[in-house]
Amino acid sequence: MATFPERVFSGVQPTGNLHLGNYLGAIVKFVELQRSHECLYCVVDLHAITVPQKPEELKASIREVTAAFIACGVDPAAHAIFNQSQVSGHAELAWVFNCVARIGWLNRMTQFKEKAGKDRENASVGLYAYPCLMAADILLYKATHVPVGEDQKQHLELARDVAQKFNLDFSASIAANGFGDAFFPLPEPLIQGPATRVMSLRDGSKKMSKSDPSDYSRINLSDDADAIAQKVRKAKTDPEPLPGETAGLEGRPEADNLVGVYAALTGSTKADVLKTFGGGQFSAFKSALVDLAVAKLGPIGAEMKRLTADPGYIDGVLADGAARARMIADENMKAVKDVLGFVR
Ligand code: TYM
Repeated sequence: MATFPERVFSGVQPTGNLHLGNYLGAIVKFVELQRSHECLYCVVDLHAITVPQKPEELKASIREVTAAFIACGVDPAAHAIFNQSQVSGHAELAWVFNCVARIGWLNRMTQFKEKAGKDRENASVGLYAYPCLMAADILLYKATHVPVGEDQKQHLELARDVAQKFNLDFSASIAANGFGDAFFPLPEPLIQGPATRVMSLRDGSKKMSKSDPSDYSRINLSDDADAIAQKVRKAKTDPEPLPGETAGLEGRPEADNLVGVYAALTGSTKADVLKTFGGGQFSAFKSALVDLAVAKLGPIGAEMKRLTADPGYIDGVLADGAARARMIADENMKAVKDVLGFVR
């Protein structure tokens, strides 16, 4: 099969508070990958409206996620940071993929089932078709690598299936238009490290999420030192001391989660963390975790505040990123139209 130059794409929804899960599962990886790859990082506002949003809050959230990318260390001069709705190719290619993907594939998406809940009849068509838009986000840029948390794995598999089916269905036209034996790459998910699924601080069996009604379930990137300290101290644990080895974390989801968070924040492994804290009580470990989390997240929160106070700057970053993204997107969209047989 054809080879494609390596390119990274990922997205974050502008829906409420960004939290430690978004940071460790995704944004930390964005920062790492920008050293070795060409990257596009997208604030996916078209995804956000699959559930109701208040326009003024949405606008503030788009700016806040942009500020978070920059505050965490993504360099907007070197890589495109933009909001999805400014590049029309996302919606255009999503329509094409609505016609490539099969209903049976979408019916298997667990996140739709979770988000739609019992009242499925009343969910938006957009929420159901969401994975096709996500496939379009990635493939519009022929991106080869996609850093995400574990909850996005199934959507990435669907994006690969869409790419593969498009390549197969249109193979003759792809070849006739000079694109060889494959038009789209099969994008690879990058789901790595000790915190690919950060759990709620109140319940180790539930994912840390923006939509959890309890603010104590998550650490927000905008939390100040006091809030971080309180939340870590109140985090649910069990009565046993920490184990000496990772095998001892099995069946102890809260302990496993906190050890994973500590490891991810220091760029080490759970085994390393247990070498230091194994055998000790949670109180000492939690004190160390408070210090670490405040040291790492405090400056990010402060920088986000500084950046969001200047919406003109943020909007400039987004406009510049969108212009750069459009250069790739428009070219690829023209080629998609040729492959499909549209007159242009
Ligand atoms: P979203 O906005 O829900 O989350 C953004 C990123 O954060 C990761 N994440 C987590 N990682 C670890 N632990 C958690 N508790 C946790 N919660 C969230 C997510 O896996 C994600 O990487 N559909 C996507 C956005 C999207 C996208 C894309 C991603 C749209 N198009 C194209 C990649 C490529 C979403 O809703 O992520």
